[in-house]
Amino acid sequence: MAIETTFAIIKPDAVEKNLAGAILAHIEKAGFKVRGAKRIHLTRAQAEGFYAEHKERGFFGELCAFMSRGPVFVLALEAEGAITKWRETMGATDPAAAAEGTIRKLFGASKGENATHGSDSPGAAARELAYFFASYELL
Ligand code: RTP
Ligand code: MG
Repeated sequence: MAIETTFAIIKPDAVEKNLAGAILAHIEKAGFKVRGAKRIHLTRAQAEGFYAEHKERGFFGELCAFMSRGPVFVLALEAEGAITKWRETMGATDPAAAAEGTIRKLFGASKGENATHGSDSPGAAARELAYFFASYELL
């Protein structure tokens, strides 16, 4: 498998609960190298642009309000097969359905407030990394 870099967010629900450090520890223990990291507060417009693929969905307004209500950590994570590996490390969208030991099972509150985001394809990873990071910020 090839070395990839994927894009992750520690979402506002987890940051509010002071879980960012525990989630970063989980990420490092799972074998990812953190190539980029910063703590930012998304504007509503940034959240809407980031999740534009979901704009016709019923939960879009709620999702963008949630993602812009407080600070997040945006991360660039490198590993062998990082895109699939990070989706597996996070677990299912709904924490109640996520496998034992996954981040969403451990730290997620609900289907909407589920602690982390992860890119779902190589194209999404490239787009999402470029949305938040300049190339000089990926070390
Ligand atoms: P993400 O994009 O954040 O990594 O999550 P995902 O691929 O597992 O799920 P996706 O279908 O892309 O949904 C994006 C985010 O929208 C919120 N959501 N709320 N209330 C609902 O029914 C609902 N469904 C999705 C979640 O925050 C989800 O992660
Ligand atoms: Mg998604």
